[in-house]
Amino acid sequence: MSRNTIARISLAAVRHNLARIQSLAPDSEVCCVVKADAYGHGLARICEALSQADVLAVATTGEAAMCRKHGWVGRLLLLEGPSNVSEFEEMVALSAETVVHHETQLQLLRHRQKDVHHALWLKIDTGMHRLGFPAADASAVYSELEKLRSKQATILMTHFACADDASNPMTLRQIDRFDEAIVGLPGSCSLANSAGMLNFPQSQREYVRPGIMLYGISPCRKKTAEEIGLKPVMTLQCELIAINEVGAGETIGYGAAYTCREPKRIGIAAIGYGDGYPRHARNGTPVLVNGRLACIAGHVSMDMIAIDLSGHEDAQVGDTVTLWGEGLPIEQVAPWAGSISYELICGVTARVTARIE
Ligand SMILES: Cc1ncc(COP(=O)(O)O)c(C=O)c1O
Repeated sequence: MSRNTIARISLAAVRHNLARIQSLAPDSEVCCVVKADAYGHGLARICEALSQADVLAVATTGEAAMCRKHGWVGRLLLLEGPSNVSEFEEMVALSAETVVHHETQLQLLRHRQKDVHHALWLKIDTGMHRLGFPAADASAVYSELEKLRSKQATILMTHFACADDASNPMTLRQIDRFDEAIVGLPGSCSLANSAGMLNFPQSQREYVRPGIMLYGISPCRKKTAEEIGLKPVMTLQCELIAINEVGAGETIGYGAAYTCREPKRIGIAAIGYGDGYPRHARNGTPVLVNGRLACIAGHVSMDMIAIDLSGHEDAQVGDTVTLWGEGLPIEQVAPWAGSISYELICGVTARVTARIE
């Protein structure tokens, strides 16, 4: 029997989600975040589906090269910027724009001023304390960038730490700090990630930078993807490869972590942590069997999971199991594994066949 463990990838859903983002932020240009292999969806195919994006944003020069290789001729942004001369040269060769977040990058730009032809995105740290110049230095760094750049304008940006929680005052503080830091500095601004553009529309400005929403996943704690009007891009599926009748008092799988209180029908499905299904998914983690809810029983193994088939008397070997995606939002699965949707989608391994739809 061949193993039929697949990630169905809907490019129509990508296009739909981008159009939805454009309608939610009608006055902003959309900088689509496609780093980490387009959040595990396959950068080559996703960047082809994003032909209507204004800018694509990646983390590394390797990812930028991949976008160019697959036909992206539009604006391309390096979110972490170059950290050495060879990355700077790759960036120039790829005609990419860059975030400038640290003094070492200013030094690179000073030495290679003649090669700075594209827009520079000045990143201001407004409270995340990951990347960015202190707000107090924004004006001085801006002046320096204005001298370094040749024709394209400097774009001012920051990144939110807590925008997924609409009631957290941190984001409002970050917006205020940003607005104070840029007083008197002309130029376009970019603050909002997916959660920011939804929960704090005042942060939309000239550019929004959505990532997770493109893939049809809700960035908000209190709104589902469906409520936002998004469609899941990845649906992870496999098949039942065995069904066993297991007696009361017997245990399932490694560590005997699940005990059948009564006789059970247990399905074995062909997916495990070797495919990127999270090892820490607990007893009770939801799955769909033939489109109906069931849950996993016992520890996830490398190649298999066990499923409690109570209420699924008609299930048979070969039937379809959905781990997340259409019919089962990944946002409902991730907490069972102590994780977040971002980590699960990025973690799907090369062993899983992508089926493009
Ligand atoms: C600087 C920056 N902007 C935007 C995003 C997109 O975030 P999200 O996927 O939450 O929309 C990311 C992702 O981590 C990021 O690092």
